[in-house]
Amino acid sequence: MTVITGRALITGGSAGIGYAFARALARRGVDLVLVSRTESRLDEAARELREHGVEVETLAADLATDAGVEIVEARIGADPQVNIIVNNAGSGLHEPSVTTNLAPHLHGVDLMVKAPMRLAAAAGLVMEQRGSGIIINVGSVAGMIAMNNYSAIKAWMNTFSDALALELRGTGVQVMTLLPGWVRTEFHSRAKVNASAIPSWLWLSADRVVEDTLKAVEKGKNRVVPSKRFKLLALLASYAPRPGVVWATGQIKKGRDER
Ligand SMILES: NC(=O)c1ccc[n+]([C@@H]2O[C@H](COP(=O)([O-])OP(=O)(O)OC[C@H]3O[C@@H](n4cnc5c(N)ncnc54)[C@H](OP(=O)(O)O)[C@@H]3O)[C@@H](O)[C@H]2O)c1
Repeated sequence: MTVITGRALITGGSAGIGYAFARALARRGVDLVLVSRTESRLDEAARELREHGVEVETLAADLATDAGVEIVEARIGADPQVNIIVNNAGSGLHEPSVTTNLAPHLHGVDLMVKAPMRLAAAAGLVMEQRGSGIIINVGSVAGMIAMNNYSAIKAWMNTFSDALALELRGTGVQVMTLLPGWVRTEFHSRAKVNASAIPSWLWLSADRVVEDTLKAVEKGKNRVVPSKRFKLLALLASYAPRPGVVWATGQIKKGRDER
């Protein structure tokens, strides 16, 4: 049984799933360090979260850049109070891979592969020495299918996080791999993804996803797929023959490609 307490650093903590983590942790009395690019959104989130009586600090940093990641690495190394890290910041990537413009893909790799890899290493070093800590990595059920490069990036996160849990087993550091399905946030509109073909009953709220995750952390688990419907879909994606999974991805993609 894990007790969730202390100070959490949340990347992408100003909106969506990250903000839901911030709210749920603040309700549990956890102090917060929120990281994202937009200072005004960070300030607004911090003001609301302080109403729970916790300390909230903000760090404006672009995690798709070396300089931005260095700011956060330094913050983690300098503060022994930070005992929870949520590697959450991310953005959609609905772009063809055969293109002359690879910039969005490289940005996706910087933000959703390089940054969480570096922050997990920085946090893991401090936490392993201390013999305690929690690292929550936000992967995706999308990482189990074949939806563009986004799936490939999230497949990396799902696997990296499982491997990290194995590496840190027995050290007192708990690693949680969160695989959300579709969650109502700004994510799809920001990425200009047409999500209208997704049936409304499939969508999850960010609050529900986060509550399921924190409960799984408290139970000492290392992996969570919130909701029965996405547990079932994840099971199918794991055990169905791969050609079937690729075919099903093609069906979902058809609805999305209409912009
Ligand atoms: N929504 C879904 O259906 C869904 C499903 C599965 C997995 N996920 C994953 O969940 C995570 C959070 O997604 P969300 O739905 O909560 O998205 P969101 O509502 O768009 O929020 C994204 C957050 O990340 C921050 N962010 C984006 N780019 C950043 C950068 N370069 N540097 C620092 N911060 C950055 C944003 O703030 P700024 O823009 O101000 O920087 C914002 O706080 C992502 O990793 C996503 O891949 C989402």
